[in-house]
Amino acid sequence: MYSNADTDWDAFDPAQYMAHNYLSLTPDDRRLLALTRDRFATADLPMDARGLDVGSGSNLYPALAMLPHCREITLWEYGAGNVDWLRTEVADYSPHWDACWAILAEAAPYRRVGAPRTALAERARVVHGSVYDLPATQWDLGTMFFVAESMSELFDEFLAAVDAFTAALKPGAPFVAAFMENSEGYAVGDRPFPAVGIDSGTVHAAFAPAADELVVERIAPMGEKLRDGYTGMLLAVGRIRAERGTDPC
Ligand SMILES: C[S@@+](CC[C@H](N)C(=O)[O-])C[C@H]1O[C@@H](n2cnc3c(N)ncnc32)[C@H](O)[C@@H]1O
Repeated sequence: MYSNADTDWDAFDPAQYMAHNYLSLTPDDRRLLALTRDRFATADLPMDARGLDVGSGSNLYPALAMLPHCREITLWEYGAGNVDWLRTEVADYSPHWDACWAILAEAAPYRRVGAPRTALAERARVVHGSVYDLPATQWDLGTMFFVAESMSELFDEFLAAVDAFTAALKPGAPFVAAFMENSEGYAVGDRPFPAVGIDSGTVHAAFAPAADELVVERIAPMGEKLRDGYTGMLLAVGRIRAERGTDPC
């Protein structure tokens, strides 16, 4: 079994990963992005909130989805190549991300951001760090896309990553987290990366001690599957509970 520490994350190739997954948007990603937009568009947040995206890799759309609400967005990433890629890309993002912004701009708060490219450059802060080293209770909203289940074969490391993500958010913070369902691992170029098989019940149980208004939605694969060895995508949305570990019922 490969743990997170057994993998060379500095060898994760951001250009190959981005080209394979995000150069043109799949129907699945369009659906995830629209659901994320709708969660944050209706969230009661201060205009100067601080957002957190964990394990950004070479995907900018979770950060773009937090842009209208944030004076600062932290992209917290572990792989050195991804960190370099992110620092370059947020400074003046590539035209293909405009397709993501077009989906976001269907909701009013996004249209009020006059120039998203400039806004992201001004507000994004890339940090080289592990999810397991996130400081507690720092951020007002958060995203984590395809990270907790796609960084290790160990279920305990999946749970610890979800715990670290929710602990980094303040009470009341809305969050959106995406997962591959039943993933058997994935390749970036010809290099394999580990994953742990999870389903909607597992994701719900992982977030339940920390979250209110928790909904886990399953998105069945639409069209051609880009990544091999998974059965669908899962999106967990909710709000961090004021007192963790207390069951409201
Ligand atoms: C499957 S990729 C997901 C990338 C991106 N979030 C997306 O939506 O496509 C997994 C990401 O998790 C990152 N990662 C692996 N171990 C990590 C850790 N300990 N802390 C934070 N990120 C980590 C990898 O570097 C990679 O960017």
